[in-house]
Amino acid sequence: MQLFIEETYEDMSRRAADLIAAQLIVDPTSTLGLATGSTPIGLYADLVEDFQADRISFEQVTTFNLDEYRGLSPEHDQSYRYFMQKNLFDHVDIDPEATSVPDGANPDAQAACESYEQAIGEAGGIDLQLLGLGHNGHIGFNEPCDHFPVRTHEAALTESTRQANARFFASEAEVPAAAYTMGVGTVMAARRVLMIVTGADKADILRKAFLGPVTPWVPASILQFHPDVTLICDRAAWDGAAR
Ligand code: F6R
Repeated sequence: MQLFIEETYEDMSRRAADLIAAQLIVDPTSTLGLATGSTPIGLYADLVEDFQADRISFEQVTTFNLDEYRGLSPEHDQSYRYFMQKNLFDHVDIDPEATSVPDGANPDAQAACESYEQAIGEAGGIDLQLLGLGHNGHIGFNEPCDHFPVRTHEAALTESTRQANARFFASEAEVPAAAYTMGVGTVMAARRVLMIVTGADKADILRKAFLGPVTPWVPASILQFHPDVTLICDRAAWDGAAR
């Protein structure tokens, strides 16, 4: 594993954007796995800046997002498709057809998840997968449980995740109860993984994920077995974790 400890959230975002930019410069036809949530917002803003400054292009890039709430249409302002349009896709030269987010509006979970997994395979797999870290150790919406879900599947959101995500909705009752998410196996099959972690409130789970035992009760801990992981965290997250 490669570890970068950056002083601030802005430094963490810049470092992560540099790594993704380098990936696109080396291989302009890369397939990226993308994440939503609060953590990558700065990194996406930096990538937009890099695009506007002509340093990178997304013209030949393909993307697959980790997850989507079940039951939300792409137009819903809390859907992950909407998030991606607003934070990245609408501001760069990516082909809209080359961007995929699981189809949360499809009530047929099996069809939605199987076709997503198949599309990733047909694209030749993911070159670089971006991840955030949930407070309970989840990656994508792979919540703590007694096994590692392998492929894209429907996941019930835990109470703690619904509470954490309620900040984006009018009330907790409005947070969807389920999501379609890449499986842990889908993530582990990516050729490179980039995880970004910010804030003292993530220190405890950061320690469990990277310095504790590998267990499906801390889904991110499986990354200890991935051959090419880069972890970029800010000082607040790392200092608490290493204490
Ligand atoms: C988002 C996702 C989640 C988040 C995680 C951290 O697509 O899959 O696993 O990465 O919940 O979220 P933030 O960054 O909001 O703390």
